[in-house]
Amino acid sequence: AVPARCSLAAADSVSAAAPILRDLQMKCATPLPVLRHVADALAADMRAGLAADGGGELKMILTYVDSLPTGNEAGLFYGLDLGGTNFRVLRVHLGGKEKRLLDTEFEQVSIPQELMCGTTEELFDFIASGLAKFVQKEKDKFGPPKGREREIGFTFSFPVKQTSIDSGILIKWTKGFAVSGTVRRDVVACLNEALKRQGLDMRVSALVNDTVSTLAGARYWDDNVMVAVILGTGTNACYIESVDAIPKLQGSTYQSGKTIINTEWGAFSNGLPLTEYDRAMDCESINPGEQIFEKTISGMYLGEIVRRVLQKMAEVSTMFGDSFPQKLSVPFVLRTPDLCKMQQDDTKDLNEVEFILSDALGVKSSCLGSRRIVTDVCDTIVKRGGRLAGAGIVGILQKLEQDFKGSIFGRRTVVAMDGGLYEHYPQYRSHLKEAVTELLGEEVSKNVIIEHTKDGSGIGAALLAAANSKYST
Ligand code: GLC
Repeated sequence: AVPARCSLAAADSVSAAAPILRDLQMKCATPLPVLRHVADALAADMRAGLAADGGGELKMILTYVDSLPTGNEAGLFYGLDLGGTNFRVLRVHLGGKEKRLLDTEFEQVSIPQELMCGTTEELFDFIASGLAKFVQKEKDKFGPPKGREREIGFTFSFPVKQTSIDSGILIKWTKGFAVSGTVRRDVVACLNEALKRQGLDMRVSALVNDTVSTLAGARYWDDNVMVAVILGTGTNACYIESVDAIPKLQGSTYQSGKTIINTEWGAFSNGLPLTEYDRAMDCESINPGEQIFEKTISGMYLGEIVRRVLQKMAEVSTMFGDSFPQKLSVPFVLRTPDLCKMQQDDTKDLNEVEFILSDALGVKSSCLGSRRIVTDVCDTIVKRGGRLAGAGIVGILQKLEQDFKGSIFGRRTVVAMDGGLYEHYPQYRSHLKEAVTELLGEEVSKNVIIEHTKDGSGIGAALLAAANSKYST
């Protein structure tokens, strides 16, 4: 194609958008002092959430996990995973220390939009029927199970106040879910009722957050894993804490002396560099004032923040043509994977950017200058997100370093990462790692291994079901 030239009028239109970009870059900047403040504030909020009165923004949820995977787990276990855009069912065959993972099989379906805003029964019936279909296929293959109930590790990736390893009450929905009647109910009881309606005889042995199952899954292979972080639709982190550092445990005994804490760091907000676009998005969201860290750094929101900036630019300039492109005002039409594709465009004329803008937003950007502005906006928002996520990780490591008396930074420590945003967005990943290195310094950051754990969550849930099995394995 012949590279499109900016006419004089088009150049003018781009220059009207330029100050908006500069203002955005300034407000989203994350120089070292900002990162340091975020890391310190997160560590302080973690401490407040662990205190006996458990106040503060971070829930620091007790997970009741007392034994981490050892490798000795054996038998057939199931995983159910609900928490983002997809729902997964899986079966894991664990072979013990020598053989480890003999087999895994899974099925995945996307969650219909209407179920995210429907009733509790509808949502849980959907899950139970997915599980029933999976189990039916297996019966056809292997015949009925012999003499023991199938046991499930249920990964439910929302803030749940756990009451034991296999029960917990939903505190609130996040990530666009607004199912009626679930808040304050035991989600395992909801699932059990749905299983009964399906005539399924299965038992939930462990209820876990996705961060917790990721940590367990990664720890199965590597004893140095101390932290797990999800960067996907939403974001969260958990880590291994010494029971002595958890005043709110109030005397409960843990044989191992350690447990996993689910931070629910998505709720953090102290000192974040926010803009008018973030504030407007938050106000119009279904959970205003909540999950501010999540809304600044996670996959569900990055595309929407960029859309809002472009909308403002289109209002004051003609960078997308003379008439305002109507689709640009539809919330959430621009998705984070679209930003990612635009940022991978290495053609001289940014042809892919042009295609995505027209495809996703119905926007004509025949001028190269406007396409450049668009990629600069993406970079600004993605850079802020990745760097703040990096600061969050350092906050947790700092807290651990204090609790484990200097033994974290001085030896190999692994942070297990998962989630589509982390997995698929190379720029986001490098901004994150850069921030960690800036904060910790070259020497210490050599000991901190930030590593993608593919599918750790499914296996991790099955491992925790095995560790908490009513049959000994
Ligand atoms: C949201 C949920 C949290 C989950 C995270 C990642 O922040 O509240 O429980 O771990 O998303 O899926």
